[in-house]
Order: sequence, then structure tokens, then C-alpha cells
Amino acid sequence: NAASKGTYEFYMLKEIDEQPAVMRRLSTDYLDENGEPVVDPAIVDAVSAADRIYIFAAGTSYHAGLVGKEIFEKFTGIPTEVGYASEAGYHFPMMSKHPFFIFLTQSGETADSRVVLTEANKRNIPSLTMTNVEGSTLSREASYTMLLNAGPEIAVASTKAYTAQVALQAILAKAVGEKLGDEDAKNWNLKQGLSLAAEGIQEIVDGKEEIEKLAKKYLVPSRNAFYIGRGIDHAVALEGALKLKEVSYIQTEGFAAAELKHGTISLIEDGTPVIALINDPVTADLTRGNIQEVASRGANVVTIVGKQFAKEGDNIVLPEIDYYLSALLSVVPTQLLAYYASKNKGLDVDKPRNLAKSVTVE
Ligand code: G6P
Repeated sequence: NAASKGTYEFYMLKEIDEQPAVMRRLSTDYLDENGEPVVDPAIVDAVSAADRIYIFAAGTSYHAGLVGKEIFEKFTGIPTEVGYASEAGYHFPMMSKHPFFIFLTQSGETADSRVVLTEANKRNIPSLTMTNVEGSTLSREASYTMLLNAGPEIAVASTKAYTAQVALQAILAKAVGEKLGDEDAKNWNLKQGLSLAAEGIQEIVDGKEEIEKLAKKYLVPSRNAFYIGRGIDHAVALEGALKLKEVSYIQTEGFAAAELKHGTISLIEDGTPVIALINDPVTADLTRGNIQEVASRGANVVTIVGKQFAKEGDNIVLPEIDYYLSALLSVVPTQLLAYYASKNKGLDVDKPRNLAKSVTVE
């Protein structure tokens, strides 16, 4: 049964391991045999009619939205904003003439997101909820729903719902972009991309022992840590940092790689772990420079690098994938680092203190 732990000690690792299957299921459920998106035409029409997409979410889902922004803008040409639901509810952003709202929510019950949706409904703004839970409140109250089909997520720290949200946003972006005549969207082989993502995630989880060694060596002994990256790697840095701090209690910050030097680099000491993500072709070399800056101040740098950018001495080398899908691979080592840091500190990985799976109060 999907909600049983089986031979796993914790749900979190089980759910990390399920991600290749989640990628394959989304591909089967939302792409036809020619790789064309199978998305409710009413949703595609509604998003295509928008002059701006607004994504609202909380926590890990918010971080999936940051990746979604890059994907929507690239493949649909529609300017896209991402906001914390908890902020937007009471400081409603200035609206374009034809906004379309997307709510990303694993549970479909997050109170902060519900406030924004209620406000959107009052203003007759069309909306879509991407959620893992059929019939959930945000699904019922939005104009449209797309299901993540990731299977039940039990661990408090979200993993497979994040990758499902990134992949589903990609599918919707391709559908909308094609409708709008976007050449990049038409030429995007998403079927192959999701299949490479499934194989790539499998390769990463098969190498989990090496990742556990890195977690034990650099993270377990440390009080604090940093994630750095640029572009989509920046979005993943924020998610990697959240995952690590929430389950291991190691205070971790995610940074745009080059911003560190504008202040926070003063926190780098001998042995401070800095995990650097390099998957963006435009900035790969610049991020290498930022790694030098922290390494020369004593940081222990761990690199998570796409194969096409890899150099001698890199720690975790990821299979090659399209930049716009790179989060699907690069986030997985960050999930595993968090898992093993927590487990090796003897913590209850699935139930970190003070946290709830779904927060139904504002
Ligand atoms: C809680 C959970 C997080 C989750 C966030 C948003 O804080 O602990 O893991 O990312 O809510 O949840 P949602 O169900 O809306 O994605």
C-alpha cells in the first residue's frame, strides 16, 4: 500500500526514492504518445488569455513556484510573479488587466493560500490549483485543478510533491506556449526530458551512499551551512537550505551565489559548509568564481554539478538534462543531504520538532 513505510526506516527516504516513478506517471498522465500535453483545454485557454501569471504558495511549494516562474516565462512569454501566500493575502499585489492565479499546494489545505484564493474569487480572477489531494479545499474553490498524482506524501518535509510541481508546471507551460505559438514550447521535447529526469533521479538515488558520506563529513558536525546558486540553481538553493534546516536543525541559508560577497560572506569561517549548485550554462563559470571566494576563506565546499559543467574534484555530478528541468535532478542530492544529516544526528526525520505537514491556521 502506497502509504506504508515497507522496509524503510523513514517515509522521507521512501518518498525521495519514489520520484522516478512520479516523473513517469506525470509523463503518462499528461503527455500523449507524441509528447503533446494532455491538459484540459479550458485551462490552456484561460492561462493563454492572461497577460500575467501569479503563483502563490508556501514553504517548499513556494520554492517550486520560483522554478515555475523561469519555466513559464521561457516557454509562454507571459510575465510571471511568485509570492508568498501569507503576504499576498493582506498585501494584495498590484494586478495586471488579465491576471491568472496558480496555487501550488501539496495538501490543498494551507490556510495562507486559501486567503489569497478567497480574495481572487471575490475579484473574479481565474485560478488553478496544482495539488496532490483530490477534493481538497483549494482544489474545490479554484476555477480549475491539476493533480500532482505523486501518491500520499507522509513525511513532513516535502520531496516528491516538489518535483511533481516542477514537472507539472513544465507540462502546463508547454501546453500554453504551444497554444500561443511559441517556438521554444513547440520544440521542447518534454517527454524525453521527463524520461531523462526519471533515469537521472534513479542514478542519483542509487548513489545515495556517497551522499551520506558527504552529509556525515561536512554537515553533521556543523552548526550552520549555506547553499549557493544562480538562476534556477538559486531557487533550488533556497529549497535545499529549507530542507536541510527543517529536518537537521543545522541553520542553513540559501543564497544567490554572487550575493554572498555583499555581506553574508563575513559568516564564512574555517570549515563552514557551502553547497554550490552549478547547472546554469550562462553563469556556471561565474559561480566557480564565487566558490573560490568562499573556499579561500576556509569554507568546505560541496559541489552539485551537471555533467556538462563538471570539473576535477566535483563532489556530486548529475546526469545531463535541459536547464529548465535541471531542478528535477539538482534538488534530489539536497533532499538526500538533508535526510542523512538528520538521520545521522539521531533525529526523527519524518517529524521535525514544531512542524506540521499542513498548516491550516494563518
Ligand atoms: C507546511 C509544510 C511544508 C509545506 C508547506 C506548504 O509548512 O511543513 O512542508 O511546504 O506547509 O504546504 P502545501 O500543502 O500548501 O504545499
